[in-house]
Amino acid sequence: PDQIFGLGRKNSAGVDLSDPLVREPLMERLHALSSKTYEAQPTEEAMGEHPVRRITSPHDDRIEVGIAHEATEGAIDRAMEAAAKAQVGWDQLGGEKRAQLLDKAADLFEEHAETFFSLCIREAGKTLPDAILEVREAVDFLRYYASEARAKFTHPTPLPGPTGEQNELRLHGRGIWTCISPWNFPLAIFTGPVAAALAAGNAVMAKPAEQTPLIADYAIWLMHQAGIPREIVQLMPGDGKVGAALVSHPLTAGVAFTGSTETARIINRTIADRQDGPIVPLIAETGGQNAMIVDSSALPEQVTRDVVASSFQSAGQRCSALRVLYIQEDVADEMIRMIGGALEAQTIGDPRELTTDVGPVIDAQARQALRRHLDWLDHHAVRIVRRDIPEESDAHGYYVSPSIYEIEHLSQLIGENFGPILHIIRWKAGELDKVVEAINGTGYGLTLGLQSRIDLNRRYVEKHARVGNLYVNRNQIGAVVESQPFGGEGLSGTGPKAGGPHYVERFATERVTCIDT
Ligand code: NAD
Ligand code: ALA
Repeated sequence: PDQIFGLGRKNSAGVDLSDPLVREPLMERLHALSSKTYEAQPTEEAMGEHPVRRITSPHDDRIEVGIAHEATEGAIDRAMEAAAKAQVGWDQLGGEKRAQLLDKAADLFEEHAETFFSLCIREAGKTLPDAILEVREAVDFLRYYASEARAKFTHPTPLPGPTGEQNELRLHGRGIWTCISPWNFPLAIFTGPVAAALAAGNAVMAKPAEQTPLIADYAIWLMHQAGIPREIVQLMPGDGKVGAALVSHPLTAGVAFTGSTETARIINRTIADRQDGPIVPLIAETGGQNAMIVDSSALPEQVTRDVVASSFQSAGQRCSALRVLYIQEDVADEMIRMIGGALEAQTIGDPRELTTDVGPVIDAQARQALRRHLDWLDHHAVRIVRRDIPEESDAHGYYVSPSIYEIEHLSQLIGENFGPILHIIRWKAGELDKVVEAINGTGYGLTLGLQSRIDLNRRYVEKHARVGNLYVNRNQIGAVVESQPFGGEGLSGTGPKAGGPHYVERFATERVTCIDT
């Protein structure tokens, strides 16, 4: 919807795929883009010899989408030095001017949306509806953080001066932020932290996931086209070793990380072991063991629709995705039958086809881990649905059977299973407290769904569940910037919430001036 948000910001527009006059020409243009290849490289000019990675499509590993030149330690040093010199001027430019450049970048993202759609499909295996959401979220992050820069980084905040002195608080950039992102939101979550760090007056080393550097390269190119200086936002493609080198670099003044809980712990240790440079804050947005609780007052059709979207959209590769569905036992048989039937009706296949509901997972490693989990479930759980993968998809793509299993206890699951697998547990009427206790007991706290028309149950869950985002009577994915600030607690992250009112300040440092008369 064309909705006006606080500070006059507008949500980015979607694409109406139900309109053939919109859909058919778009599909033709995407087809025309489908043989284009791309190249990602560190922004730093004097590159020298960089290791090269071949990027192929998750749905067909014979399709090469492009190549990525990975950053070397020498390139990181040069990039850091250039960024440190430029950052002071960027900070002094002030919130309004930085906001104008971020808004311009948002306009360019929208103008180039179709290239992003094509890349999201080909490099990350997303369906077109998912790709559209991805671009919208990236654009919303740019504009929202621009509005935050205007509101909070343009004028000092006056503070009380009870004895006659004048007190003022100013926000400034901290220096250089290293922003490390995952492959599952290769544009939105790549762009969000980068935009926030820039809005706050920092330079940024942007380290995309090794699986999706091409989308990131295109995004950084557009930011440069918008007028954000090349030294101020620099792409640093590469794997975890590049991320680790950036985190431990003495010129890194802050780290914004989104990815697995395991990697966040490693980064935390790297930060603790740094011998040079400033003490560094870490913002970490990590995984989840997300549940949905269904009681006997829930509407079965609504539950079915919301469960399928929450668990299987994006092939379950969302940190917010539903992994564990608790159904009150009085209504469980009927609900399980309906949800199983709905999964049977999903189309598995090539994400380039508009009819596809569930596409591939990201790579061979993810496929192997998920298949191992399915094998484990076959021995320890009750199989409800395990879909076959179409032969042509299985031959060259990274596909995992979308599946539903019934288990007895949440404690049977270890860690996050990042794919299209749903686990169901039955719970007894009167034991909502035990369900919430079990969910809290995982230590994760990202999303939680509740399907209930009983106010007492909603209030109980609101009061006791330790989660970042609670969704009642709807699906639990697709948080909207500014409306549903997103992020978890415990093993799911440090906060602050992305797309929320406390995010940009965390990238800044505060300075106070006190002037006596
Ligand atoms: P990952 O932890 O494997 O990798 C994330 C990033 O960290 C990549 O860019 C990777 O190269 C880099 N990295 C790896 N080792 C590193 C090291 N030692 N030092 C510095 N950087 C290093 O995660 P992934 O597989 O890319 O992404 C999926 C995970 O991300 C899931 O756990 C998912 O739940 C989580 N996620 C969380 C959110 C959220 O907002 N909470 C959003 C999206 C994804
Ligand atoms: N913000 C993303 C979602 O809500 C992760 O699905």
